Amino acid sequence: MILNEKLSKYLDELLRLDLDDTEELYSYLVENKFPVVGRDTARFLAQIVLIKQPEKILEIGTNVGFSALTMAKVLRKGMIYTIDYREDLQKQALENFKKFNVEDKIKLINGRAEKMLHRIEDKFDIIFIDADKRGYPLYLDYALEHINSGGIILVDNLFWKGSVYSPESFDPPKTAVPTLIEFNNRFSQMKNFKSQLLAIGDGLGFAIKLD
Ligand SMILES: C[S@@+](CC[C@H](N)C(=O)[O-])C[C@H]1O[C@@H](n2cnc3c(N)ncnc32)[C@H](O)[C@@H]1O
Repeated sequence: MILNEKLSKYLDELLRLDLDDTEELYSYLVENKFPVVGRDTARFLAQIVLIKQPEKILEIGTNVGFSALTMAKVLRKGMIYTIDYREDLQKQALENFKKFNVEDKIKLINGRAEKMLHRIEDKFDIIFIDADKRGYPLYLDYALEHINSGGIILVDNLFWKGSVYSPESFDPPKTAVPTLIEFNNRFSQMKNFKSQLLAIGDGLGFAIKLD
């Protein structure tokens, strides 16, 4: 949450993760510095899945599976494909999926996204981008080609802790900042999409493909 610290703390207290059993895992991941989505972003992802009830979701950036788990828990029918090049993290992700009985809704794809995406010809109802920031332009190229009409593209960390609109807050400047600034310009003005940058988590891109 990027708005301000007091508001962030207030919302984090309010937004317990559906008062369910994932809260304990989430707190563990945050305490141990896993790069997991914000609590508000996790809740938002689940809301989008609930509204959309997608048949196919693609996630780029599994880590230990928290965001995929969050979506899978509310997915009635349908499949989540999630890519990460770290096999060790995906092993942990699988353990988490098993623990929460969602392993049959999630297919892990191990490899570098820039290579693996060439092999995935499917179209998706939701594409969630949350991996290396330098790869974002390429992942967006892919998403534009592989999102269904009415489908939703979501992209995490677009504010990069405020550095895209307040570069002086970062010393030294982060190398991802120029890429993200350009990415945000492009994302906000995509033809045939209704796009928005939401001030939740670390800034969440949200774009709906028009018919
Ligand atoms: C921010 S974490 C994903 C967090 C996850 N979405 C969640 O909230 O639970 C980013 C992940 O992207 C993976 N990653 C980074 N660059 C990648 C690449 N080029 N191809 C595939 N995975 C990549 C990293 O290994 C890391 O686990």
